[in-house]
Amino acid sequence: MKNILVINYSQTGQLDEILENFLTPFKDFDIERLKIYPKNEFPFPWSSEVFFDKMPETVLEQPIDLEPFELKREKYDLIIIGYQPWFLSPSLPVTALLTDPKFKPILKNTPVATVIGARNMWINSQKSIVRWIEEADGILVANIPFCDKVQNHISALTILHWMLTGKKNKKWGILPLPGIKQSDIDAAEIYGQPLAAAAKNANFDGVQKEILDKGGIYIESSIILIESRAKKLFRMWAKLIKRKGTTPEKRAFWVSFFKWYLLIALFVISPPVVFIHTLLKPLLRSNIKQNQRRYLYLGIKNKPAIKGSVAI
Ligand SMILES: Cc1cc2nc3c(=O)[nH]c(=O)nc-3n(C[C@H](O)[C@H](O)[C@H](O)COP(=O)(O)O)c2cc1C
Repeated sequence: MKNILVINYSQTGQLDEILENFLTPFKDFDIERLKIYPKNEFPFPWSSEVFFDKMPETVLEQPIDLEPFELKREKYDLIIIGYQPWFLSPSLPVTALLTDPKFKPILKNTPVATVIGARNMWINSQKSIVRWIEEADGILVANIPFCDKVQNHISALTILHWMLTGKKNKKWGILPLPGIKQSDIDAAEIYGQPLAAAAKNANFDGVQKEILDKGGIYIESSIILIESRAKKLFRMWAKLIKRKGTTPEKRAFWVSFFKWYLLIALFVISPPVVFIHTLLKPLLRSNIKQNQRRYLYLGIKNKPAIKGSVAI
């Protein structure tokens, strides 16, 4: 019987539910299911101050302390890492896991799949995850990102509503429900099927293509555009806040400054930029397709040489 390790953190349980459904096709496997917890759990609902205050350490990838955990084996046939991006970076608990010298050796020469439960921006965080897996000599064979597919500004409003009130209901009674659509969460098993089949045969060649061929996984070109600019700015803000925030009062001031910057960037600056991008899209078609393929196969070994069939 094949052994798999499935490890993740989830604050609200959304990613737990995705993984539970994703694992349905793995019935014949010996599954070790491990959830990680921060030593100091993050508040839920978040206050606005604490939520934005997590940005600098998250973006600068400074690990937090986790509750101790034990792995049952020294070697697995497949490791599935579930994670969520925070501020375009891996969430703090996942950064702690993947930079933990006790965890890293388990990845060596082992096929690894990542399952993401995001709002809609996971490219930059996946770059870090790929780097850590490669540093540990792991072999990334698949990445399955689950996203909230509603329009970017609407999903920003609804997720903030969810995170800051703790209520997963319709903001103002009219906006869509926050988070990943329940039907997408329920359908997660369809993406687990090709991975389970590959793991059974110990042959992961082409599995990412099979997963993408199931449909429903795509990256909007406007999201690629935003992510390509925003992470650099986040890093600058993170360093600025660390440098200037030398007392709790000063830190709170600079974090609040960042919060207003972010809201203005998102709701005032980005709409016209995205509008111009939409107008130019026909001219950028091949470049967009290339980027979509590049990110959907980021860090994946044995990817097919053909151009991906990715919708714009
Ligand atoms: C502090 C914080 C920052 C977040 N930043 C992002 C982000 O940059 N990109 C994104 O797609 N989602 C972001 N999200 C949403 C999370 O990725 C995730 O979908 C949500 O928190 C639910 O995950 P859970 O399973 O841990 O409850 C953020 C959430 C939190 C709490």
